[in-house]
Amino acid sequence: MRIYELDSVDSTNEYAKKLIKEVSRSIPFIVRANQQTSGKGQGSNRWESRAKENLLCSIVIKPQHILAEEQFLISQVVSVALLDVLSEFNLNAFIKWPNDIYVNHKKVAGILIENTILGANIEHCIIGIGLNINQTEFSEKIPNPSSLKKETGKHFEIHQVLERIVSRINFHFNHRNEISKKYEENLYLRNIESLFYDACKNPFKGCITGVNEIGQLLIENSNTQEILKFSNQEVQFSIT
Ligand code: BTN
Repeated sequence: MRIYELDSVDSTNEYAKKLIKEVSRSIPFIVRANQQTSGKGQGSNRWESRAKENLLCSIVIKPQHILAEEQFLISQVVSVALLDVLSEFNLNAFIKWPNDIYVNHKKVAGILIENTILGANIEHCIIGIGLNINQTEFSEKIPNPSSLKKETGKHFEIHQVLERIVSRINFHFNHRNEISKKYEENLYLRNIESLFYDACKNPFKGCITGVNEIGQLLIENSNTQEILKFSNQEVQFSIT
């Protein structure tokens, strides 16, 4: 897959969008940058990362045989692919729903997937991945960060990590029947009673039991035993 290597860019996802618009550009491709001046996170969050220390990339694909209504599958594939790579480095990672990657209760990676939908289909998909690799000091503004180096004490080659991620993403796109199970099995705090806050900031205790086919998080309320369904941004974990 062609990789566009940049020293500095506003956001690899935004740059990828511009490349997609160029008529002769062939998909798939990857944009990777040493540094982002305006890295985007989920919602209105920003993604901060020190220059040259981490993986900042956008993988652009035309998903084959995935309908718009099945788009959560892409999140599952990418999250599980990241877990596979971290386990190759002996790290036991979990997916904090919907697609943050946690090691030892700290966030090492975030994923920002931006799909362009055409009718019932996904025209193309930008998979933005920010994986903290060799950075060991973080701004106090960032809640709960960590990196591969902080967790293992080892230095990693960013290109090699990217290569492994792409390989595992391809693998899981080709073995889709297993992906929901793998995703659910590795959900952070699954089956562990925890404190959550609903959209009105009301606290409640519950256990994550899994996700449904559209990617909503299922939490069994400890008081009522009711299974509650949450879409993205509708529930907060007491740990950030
Ligand atoms: C999140 O956890 O909020 C998602 C973070 C996604 C960050 C990556 S870094 C590469 C790509 N380009 C961006 O601007 N954002 C994503």
